[in-house]
Amino acid sequence: MNFHILTLFPEMVMGGLSTSITGRAMEKGIISVEAVNIRDYSKDKHRHVDDAPYGGGAGMVMQPEPICDAYEDLCARTGRRPRVIYMTPQGRVFTQQIAEELAKEEELVFLCGHYEGIDERALELVATDYLSIGDYVLTGGELPAMVMIDCISRLVPGVLNNEVSAEVESFHDNLLEYPQYTRPEVFNGLAVPEVLLSGHHKNIEKWRREQSIKRTLERRPDLLEGANLSKKEQKYLEE
Ligand code: ADE
Repeated sequence: MNFHILTLFPEMVMGGLSTSITGRAMEKGIISVEAVNIRDYSKDKHRHVDDAPYGGGAGMVMQPEPICDAYEDLCARTGRRPRVIYMTPQGRVFTQQIAEELAKEEELVFLCGHYEGIDERALELVATDYLSIGDYVLTGGELPAMVMIDCISRLVPGVLNNEVSAEVESFHDNLLEYPQYTRPEVFNGLAVPEVLLSGHHKNIEKWRREQSIKRTLERRPDLLEGANLSKKEQKYLEE
């Protein structure tokens, strides 16, 4: 899986993604992350990539030409025309389901805006998807791009050591994950639930499933509508 980030701040995204699990996946060659500096495509002698908005108003707008040139160059280098996801609070809100869909692509481009945004014509010409990470406004698209790349990467086979953990986790089946415990058995007077020490796998599985449902009901009841619950489990919710 190859990620390309069109940005004015390459060091910001590369620094973050080169660490931990995504960093290891890059080293192993399972994913690649390339930050393309939009400024490198400026034809201006001062390397300007923005200008004042037509019609007036505060702030600066990113010009279309360096963005389109950066994308065309990327297409020439890769021999493909990959999807371009524009990071914007005006987009569809990113979910696990969208991550699963995007993980099927071989090549993805993330376009990060700054200032007051990007000239609409650049978006018309290159953007294929508009995605947001939530209903709040950030200073730029770099953090959202990192969030999405992190989330998509862990769905790429081989990125997580433990293949099952991508399946059992929160949001799979629209349920939150059950609580986890490790040593010591008693901490500050709080004991690990008895069943987890029993070695009885069927009971453990049953307990975990109940905890997932209970936790989802308490914390994210909105998710339960899409959850796949048995008749017995639905009854359990009404209790
Ligand atoms: N750019 C600024 N805020 C954003 C958000 N919430 N999601 C995606 N891109 C953004």
